[in-house]
Amino acid sequence: MQLSDKAKELVINKYGKDHEKRLKHVFGVAKMAEYLADKYGVDKEKALTAAYMHDFAKYDDPTEAIGILDEKDIEECEKYPFLYHAYLSAEAYLKYVGTDMDVYNAIRYHVFGRPHMSLLEAIIMIADYTEENREYDTCIECRKILLDGEFNKAIYKSLIYTIENCKRNNELPHPQQLLVMEEYKKKSENKSLEELIIDNLGRVKASNIIVYDAKERSPFYDKIVIASVDSVRQCSAVIRYLIDDLAIHNYKIRSVEGKDTAWVLVDCFDIIVSIFQKEERDHYDIDKVYMDYPKKLIEE
Ligand SMILES: [Fe+2]
Ligand SMILES: [Fe+2]
Repeated sequence: MQLSDKAKELVINKYGKDHEKRLKHVFGVAKMAEYLADKYGVDKEKALTAAYMHDFAKYDDPTEAIGILDEKDIEECEKYPFLYHAYLSAEAYLKYVGTDMDVYNAIRYHVFGRPHMSLLEAIIMIADYTEENREYDTCIECRKILLDGEFNKAIYKSLIYTIENCKRNNELPHPQQLLVMEEYKKKSENKSLEELIIDNLGRVKASNIIVYDAKERSPFYDKIVIASVDSVRQCSAVIRYLIDDLAIHNYKIRSVEGKDTAWVLVDCFDIIVSIFQKEERDHYDIDKVYMDYPKKLIEE
């Protein structure tokens, strides 16, 4: 049995009789999450599992949180009670379904996300807001933006509306909610492929980033970006960020070569990105190859 089937069965058993509307919502989230996972290249099985479990503790008694959540979480939930169900649902996932931390975090942070969340987390968050049974005008608007392919803008807009809603109810928005809104505001700006690549290299503090202009030299690509990192881990992180970020901006990656080695090459069609472990860049003397190409050094 797949874990998503297990999660589905659990939620049907829990909500099937008394909370039909909630069950319908959960199924709506699963449908949207599956669609988005497929569109943006995220594991569908994980997306479905997180979607089925995301509201699992919706009607649980918050006093049950003692002994399940740690003190810090409880303190936070007391201030922002809508977080109880998300945090408890994530714990229920660990207890009854599986151990994947990306799925766990997608459930835990589904209410308004968190800064630098993974693509799976973002998918569950926005699927929750825009699933087909949501009838508020703001949800319908975000659903339309999302289905038009503007993933980041849909998240940004959904956060504007949930923050406005907090204010209307005289509730204080969570500080993280504001940070996520700012992050997605920036992400929703239309950026060029080059800007996205530089941004993501910057996220992992890659150094000595040089953009070589190859338009006049190669019929296959426009630019070559070369950057240095300190570790394989840093390199894996930037590749993960690039794969996610380019997918949601509708750019494609043709291939990633040399994963987990000292020289990783990411072919983004118009731009080729070479990421080196610092020593290896000197060893290959790669910059010498492009010595007479027009170049731009990116300030760190
Ligand atoms: Fe929820
Ligand atoms: Fe929900």
